[in-house]
Amino acid sequence: MQKQVPYSEVKLMKFPEPVHISIIRDKNGKYNPISMAWAMFTSIEPPMVAISIGLERYSYQAIEHSGEFVFVLPSESMGDLVDFFGNHSGRDLDKLAEAGARTQPATKIDNVLLADAAANFECVVKSKVRSGDHMIYAGLVVASHINTEPASRLFSVEHRVFGGVKPK
Ligand SMILES: Cc1cc2nc3c(=O)[nH]c(=O)nc-3n(C[C@H](O)[C@H](O)[C@H](O)COP(=O)(O)O)c2cc1C
Repeated sequence: MQKQVPYSEVKLMKFPEPVHISIIRDKNGKYNPISMAWAMFTSIEPPMVAISIGLERYSYQAIEHSGEFVFVLPSESMGDLVDFFGNHSGRDLDKLAEAGARTQPATKIDNVLLADAAANFECVVKSKVRSGDHMIYAGLVVASHINTEPASRLFSVEHRVFGGVKPK
């Protein structure tokens, strides 16, 4: 049996949900990380990942310029970083430098990886579709990287509250 209630109430049922970070180069060459829940793997061959970015975000301007992104699966220990990247804008500061995040160079695109993440994927945008107040970008995965130490993935269990789940 189901009962109809407002969308704002029902959408809380989505938790827990995986959280991600996308790093996008802006027009000045700064690598700007954005925390991101709305993302998914969308194709096996070729491998593709889609991310949804709000039209008001600084990251929206950046991806329209660079057409590339690094898609990061943060590890369990990165909750504070996700909170920081998701509550500050690259308009105002260099989030990676401010947070002291450990990075290493990407190999196929002009960007960086998060060294302590569970995994990083280098992606090149192939198509986009407007979805209300967000734009969805589908990116071709051109390189994939995994942590040399086994890492639990980060989930959001409520707004701004995070927990880890170990992959099999
Ligand atoms: C856990 C979490 C998930 C988020 N998911 C998304 C998302 O899927 N898409 C989006 O555009 N913003 C999302 N946000 C909000 C952006 O991360 C936030 O507005 C950020 O400050 C934008 O940074 P920018 O201005 O540098 O682009 C999320 C924030 C948090 C904390």
